[in-house]
Amino acid sequence: MVERDVDKTIEALLEERRIFKPPEDFADQANVNDASVYESASDDPDAWWASQAERLDWFEKWDTVLEWTAPHHKWFLGGKLNAAHNCVDRHAASVPDRVAYHWIGEPEGEARTITYRDLFEEVCKLANVLVDLGVRKGDRVAIYMPMIPELPAAMLACARIGAAHSVVFGGFSAESLSDRINDAECKVLITADGGYRRGQVVELKKAADEALQKTPSIEKVLMVRRTMDDVNIVEGRDVIYNDVVPQASAEHGAEPMDSEDMLYVLYTSGTTGKPKGIVHTTGGYLTGVSSTHRAIFDIKPETDVYWCAADIGWVTGHSYIVYGPLANGCTSVLYEGAPDWPDKDRWWSIIEEHRVSILYCAPTAIRTFMKWGTDYPEKHDLSSLRLLGTVGEPINPEAWVWYQEFIGGGRAPVVDTWWQTETGAIAITPLPGITTLKPGSATKPYPGVVADVVDEKGNSVGRGGGGYLVLRRPFPSMLRTIFGDDERYRETYFARFGDEVYFPGDGCKLDEDGYFWLLGRVDDVMNIAGHRISTYEVESALVDHKSVAEAAVVGRQDPREGETIAAFVTPKSGVEGDDGFAKELREHVSGVIGKIARPHSIIFTDDLPKTRSGKIMRRLLRDVAEERELGDVTTLLNAPILEEIKAKAARGASKEE
Ligand code: PRX
Repeated sequence: MVERDVDKTIEALLEERRIFKPPEDFADQANVNDASVYESASDDPDAWWASQAERLDWFEKWDTVLEWTAPHHKWFLGGKLNAAHNCVDRHAASVPDRVAYHWIGEPEGEARTITYRDLFEEVCKLANVLVDLGVRKGDRVAIYMPMIPELPAAMLACARIGAAHSVVFGGFSAESLSDRINDAECKVLITADGGYRRGQVVELKKAADEALQKTPSIEKVLMVRRTMDDVNIVEGRDVIYNDVVPQASAEHGAEPMDSEDMLYVLYTSGTTGKPKGIVHTTGGYLTGVSSTHRAIFDIKPETDVYWCAADIGWVTGHSYIVYGPLANGCTSVLYEGAPDWPDKDRWWSIIEEHRVSILYCAPTAIRTFMKWGTDYPEKHDLSSLRLLGTVGEPINPEAWVWYQEFIGGGRAPVVDTWWQTETGAIAITPLPGITTLKPGSATKPYPGVVADVVDEKGNSVGRGGGGYLVLRRPFPSMLRTIFGDDERYRETYFARFGDEVYFPGDGCKLDEDGYFWLLGRVDDVMNIAGHRISTYEVESALVDHKSVAEAAVVGRQDPREGETIAAFVTPKSGVEGDDGFAKELREHVSGVIGKIARPHSIIFTDDLPKTRSGKIMRRLLRDVAEERELGDVTTLLNAPILEEIKAKAARGASKEE
């Protein structure tokens, strides 16, 4: 495991001493503005979470709030509900004309407005089609789609009939898709011909066809025609969404599900092995996402237009584009494409046109906007924005302040929200009507979440100390297990500090005020543009290339640039390590995993630094990548190679333009 220099990082962060109190007018109107919520939640967490669960519509009420047999925990046992009913039916009945999504396609001028009534009909029709295709309660359905309204509809249709969905990000390769389909043994795949990204068509059906050559469990494919391009249709297997869904009956009764029934599985990278299927269940997850979404984003469903600019293929999209906002009957923007298409002001023009009041995005996007300059946001009226959020990686204070000033007009509070695929919902965060903000800190645990920072042995470090973040008490939206692998679940999250203490894998510092400063991963998981990729996965993809003998990968961290992938590759003998080969390797990694996993820099080397037992010393390679003094090299078998690698790095690695 690679340990980061916690103290150095925190010193840099703590130079930032500005604080931002909640603006009075914001606090006055905030959904949550009484700080006693923290106290009452910690006095009786079960009662607090039960009060949050009561905001949902249950077919049958639970008898037990929490059954905690560590490390397995269950919430709202005996309760019955349906996620689609909660997200759609109740709003379609009470506010049918309220907009659920303002959908905006990437090609300019393409837009659709989907009301709760529209969404209800679409979900019911699609649920009937899925049943016709053979999907039953308890089955798994894979979804590989662009950001079009049919994507949330597909997820909700699965939830409606009690099938778990497994959404695979559209940027992942055919191989990544088939691995995920096979792990969960999905029965049906819902996909599209393609989608638009930066003016190009992303050929999803083509990748899906390739993936489906190795997925024996898939019986049927339902394909949305989005781009209308000519694609291969397999007779007897492929069904066109646009032909069957509009004709289907719009009557469908939502299946009553047990609170602990699986709602979905979503794959995320671990330190070793293939990505793991994170399992979320119905009652706890929906409680967590709807509670946090309302309190943290201060949602006023009647008036707000909320935009979470993530992709639904990641957990942020699951929780804060689909389930949280819809459970709260909120109006959201759903945008298909890139922020710089057709120009670098696309987001700001969307915000102006739709009078977006709440924006939630990743620090990496903010840093990119900073680079592009203030002219782009300044061309637009962004005065509708009243609250901003960030997620996915630590935000450097400079980017935080820029966001608040140039996008939020100096008025809008910024909520820096820490959480993970595993937590399902935001766990450490400000409450914008209560919390005094410190740029760079995610501030405090959400009510009902018990977080701490501990040393190697699991002892609390106390205020002013640094170490590992842990969660000492389960909360409803936490993962239940890793799909099909309880042992890996225990091993990954509880081996370090015991069954009672969840270890998320992040370094953290507590300041004197008890604020949490997240410092990034302390394991071999990288955070690339807010997305998790393990060094192991990229290494496996590199050595999978026929001309690679060995490879090591590290995340190169830069507070201003975020994290990028640095690869050190030993080619097989006779193969030239030049720019052409580096380009070929990047394409190869793209093909195996997806574009996001392409190494940013590649250094070719005859050997890698190894211990006497043959273990690659990634810690030292990270020192090289981050241009630091080298750490302890005494255990190395081949110390001189490091000097060679350093010299090569100084001459310049092969970098992606
Ligand atoms: O390292 C933390 C970082 O992202 C990891 C979780 O990644 P993923 O499961 O892909 O979910 C991302 C979106 C929820 C965490 O272990 N992370 C997430 N949010 C923050 C963060 N690091 C610092 N500050 C944050 N606000």
